[in-house]
Amino acid sequence: SVVPVILCGGSGTRLWPLSRKSYPKQFTRIIGQDSLLQSCAKRLSGGNGMVSFAEPVILTNTDFRFMVTEQLLEVGVNPGVVLIEPDARNTAPAVLAAALHIAATDPDALMLIAPSDHVIPDTPAFWQVVEAGIEAVQNGRLVTFGITPTHPETGYGYLELDSAPDKSGQAQPLLRFVEKPDADAAQGMVDAGNYLWNAGIFLFAAKDIIAAYTEHAPDLLTPVQHAVDDAKADLGFLRLDPAAWAKADNISIDFAVMEKADNLSVVPFTGHWSDLGSWAAVQQESGVDANGVAMSGPVTAIDCENALLRSEHDGLELVGLGLKDMLVVAMPDAVLVADLNRTQDVGQVVKTLRANA
Ligand code: GDD
Ligand code: MG
Repeated sequence: SVVPVILCGGSGTRLWPLSRKSYPKQFTRIIGQDSLLQSCAKRLSGGNGMVSFAEPVILTNTDFRFMVTEQLLEVGVNPGVVLIEPDARNTAPAVLAAALHIAATDPDALMLIAPSDHVIPDTPAFWQVVEAGIEAVQNGRLVTFGITPTHPETGYGYLELDSAPDKSGQAQPLLRFVEKPDADAAQGMVDAGNYLWNAGIFLFAAKDIIAAYTEHAPDLLTPVQHAVDDAKADLGFLRLDPAAWAKADNISIDFAVMEKADNLSVVPFTGHWSDLGSWAAVQQESGVDANGVAMSGPVTAIDCENALLRSEHDGLELVGLGLKDMLVVAMPDAVLVADLNRTQDVGQVVKTLRANA
């Protein structure tokens, strides 16, 4: 079986004011009935004849621990092991901590690294690519999942294939992994046709990813191993040792390991995927009417065009009149009114508010 490793420690600011420091987007019900974390946990539980999932290992921080278990139990998923990071040091130390924890009982265990804040509506299609990945992983490969790029996004990793993406859905060897290129390089890779976006989801055997860290990020091994060895059980959570953890570099797995590894494979994923990286993405995911308007909550739109209007409170009536290219998100304590073409800059809003606080 495959152990889902759910990364639940991020604190996205680009979906402010819905996503807050103390209540980041993975816990919010932003699309549909379940939170993003709940959808993720459901997608990675159960299984069919070919893929079956064990209880997850979840990485989060101390403030979110009860929210994590509560949300999982609410959708009938047993939270498994919840590892608490003393502070957020990005995904490289987090994934290594999970790998070392899992390898202590089974070094051959397969781990599926999954961000908790992505939208992947077609679970059977997703399980199918996991199944294709399992074959490659059994030969010692580190498997990535590739999304067909639609624009030169600079916030993603790019996966270079030796040829056009395989239509049969099988794993292909990866020539190169390029994390967060600049705009020119990104444009070149989109034009080239043999690049996919990295979905941020990975599949590998615990022992193989530990070997990759040993080769490419050896400085992380000692502090993270100590943090795992000295972890303390606390109310059913497992707290990584803070003193050891503080010595681990703050770096993503993409930069620390994936850009350097030479045993990567990719399974192209043609199903729908979004990392909800901005309010513009949320607008697309929410479904728009004939005028390009997406609405949520008690909202009325009159003569509006290309807009996202959300009222996040039952008693807060939101009315748009004659709006074009507008984003309005109304929370009981904060309202964001913005140009819908500027949604990549919402993180800046949070910085400004913090600086002025
Ligand atoms: N537990 C934990 N601890 N989770 C974390 C931490 C941490 O310190 N930092 C980030 N995460 C979680 C985030 O919440 C998110 O679910 C996931 O790990 C990825 O982190 P991001 O910070 O969102 O990464 P990114 O979006 O810049 O880039 C990654 O994802 C892209 C696709 O969305 C990379 O893998 C890119 O290559 C990829 O294209
Ligand atoms: Mg992200």
